[in-house]
Amino acid sequence: MAYKITLIPGDGIGPEVSEATVRILAATGVAIEWERVELSAPIIEQFGTSLPPHVLESVERTGVGLKGPVTTPVAGGFKSVNVAIRKQLDLFANVRPVFTLPGLKTRFQDVKIDMVIFRENTEDLYSGLEHEVVKDVVESLKIITRFASMRIAEYAFAYARKNGRKKVTAVHKANIMKLSDGLFIRCCREVASVYPDVAYNELIVDNASMQLVMRPETFDVLLLPNLYGDIVSDLAAGLVGGLGVVPGANMGEKHAVFEAVHGSAPDIAGKGLANPTALMSSAILMLRHLGERTAADRLQSAIAATYREGTHLTSDVGGRAGTNEFTDAVIRHLG
Ligand code: NAI
Repeated sequence: MAYKITLIPGDGIGPEVSEATVRILAATGVAIEWERVELSAPIIEQFGTSLPPHVLESVERTGVGLKGPVTTPVAGGFKSVNVAIRKQLDLFANVRPVFTLPGLKTRFQDVKIDMVIFRENTEDLYSGLEHEVVKDVVESLKIITRFASMRIAEYAFAYARKNGRKKVTAVHKANIMKLSDGLFIRCCREVASVYPDVAYNELIVDNASMQLVMRPETFDVLLLPNLYGDIVSDLAAGLVGGLGVVPGANMGEKHAVFEAVHGSAPDIAGKGLANPTALMSSAILMLRHLGERTAADRLQSAIAATYREGTHLTSDVGGRAGTNEFTDAVIRHLG
């Protein structure tokens, strides 16, 4: 029986990388019946909401979504679609594996980087609670709750134990935000105490950023509140080749949406230049979520082989191939 999965191609380079990913998934032989839902700035404006009902209903029905990027206007306009999806479906854990791709030239190619970042996805400064107190004075509220902090910490530690990871590093700024980040870190400690088999340490976010650049190979699992998670995970993506290659998953109790870390890249949209690795790698996380381990491993090996071969890479990672040529090469390596 085919899996029913919602496909949200998004806009910008979204449709290009989505099409490439649908092609390689078809080549794995896993039967998927896609429920395609369109989501882009004009559609959002037409419906007057970041998350039109047909999109939400589809993911609620299928339980699993694969999503391309959607453009969000800066300083005004509608609110972020991604934030809306995560909130509405209670996708509380943002999971981003960051690892060295063999053969990909990066500034850190001499060290083996292999970390998984867990970012709390529902609160913090993303609560959207902003207001102008008086003219030219604006207040944004940072919300941290015991419920959400315990939930993400438990998720990260459970993942670490299940996947043989050795250490969880919680990242915070509790020396300054003593109450909010203080609560987050107390929750992390509480959860750590029931996982004696997983080592635990804490780093202040500025120090963590420096250590990630100086000694990225020493990190294993990172556990962060929403805003630091957003920033630090892009920093980590830069260590292994950039936004074009890093996958992501938004996990909830009932639903999961898999998406690349990068945005809609308007500068290269429609030119057939986009690197689909990030969305393909997100699809690998999706296959694992569905229990399709063999297909996931095959696809992972095919992408690695394409990078090792090095002749069909896209321009963002130093190659000259377009989206389609890269995709054809991955399919060839699938055998
Ligand atoms: P971006 O990730 O779209 O682009 C940053 C740079 O990386 C650009 O030079 C772009 O060409 C390059 N790049 C990104 N993905 C690439 C890929 N797959 N292959 C090759 N090059 C790639 O970030 P930017 O410019 O800050 O955001 C553009 C729009 O995307 C904004 O409206 C933003 O709000 C939205 N966005 C959406 C996300 C989502 O839907 N998940 C996530 C991040 C941003």
